[in-house]
Amino acid sequence: MNTARLLLRHFRESDLAPFAELNADPRVREFFPDLLTREKSDAFAKRIETHREEYGFSWYAVEVPGVTDFAGALGLFVPTFQTHFTPCVEIGWRLAFEHQGKGYATEGAKAVLDHAFSALKLKEVYSWTVPANMKSWRVMEKIGMKRIEEFDHPNVPAGSPLKKHVLYKGVGSEV
Ligand SMILES: CC(C)(COP(=O)(O)OP(=O)(O)OC[C@H]1O[C@@H](n2cnc3c(N)ncnc32)[C@H](O)[C@@H]1OP(=O)(O)O)[C@@H](O)C(=O)NCCC(=O)NCCS
Repeated sequence: MNTARLLLRHFRESDLAPFAELNADPRVREFFPDLLTREKSDAFAKRIETHREEYGFSWYAVEVPGVTDFAGALGLFVPTFQTHFTPCVEIGWRLAFEHQGKGYATEGAKAVLDHAFSALKLKEVYSWTVPANMKSWRVMEKIGMKRIEEFDHPNVPAGSPLKKHVLYKGVGSEV
């Protein structure tokens, strides 16, 4: 899939090293409970491609032609945890630190959300993050999603500052 500046494509072998680098960068993982080892990062990249085979959609590698072969990843995923709004489809994003602040996440996510409604015929798409991750929930707002509530993430231990999340929803007829 192409946008004005981005090529959103399937993962390939050469993405694994830069993906592992950003997944081990504390500046990128500021609002996650841990950094990922190379092994875990590679497993996630592999899961992205098996998820695509299973559901017909997944995350994309973000290429910025003329700038970088791999700026990060974004796309749609079916979360495995259970709560009152699951099962659902989540839109998410993660860029290398040096490629943040250029509008790439918003540009790519808007194209993915439009595709989710027009081609995949999804009725709604969700996204969530911790309240402090303003860069992420600003993307949600900029692509037309609406904040609907706060919830406690079931996979985060009680008492953790990362427990409380803000939940956003995009509805096909509204964005
Ligand atoms: C969240 C994240 C993906 C946002 O990425 P991003 O590309 O920086 O986000 P945006 O697309 O909104 O760009 C941010 C800023 O770039 C600026 N920008 C610079 N050039 C721009 C351009 N040509 N077009 C649009 N925005 C531009 C904008 O001012 C925008 O700031 P604003 O929100 O105040 O308007 C990124 O910060 C990230 O990877 N964080 C770590 C991982 C993470 O937390 N993921 C989410 C977990 S829930």
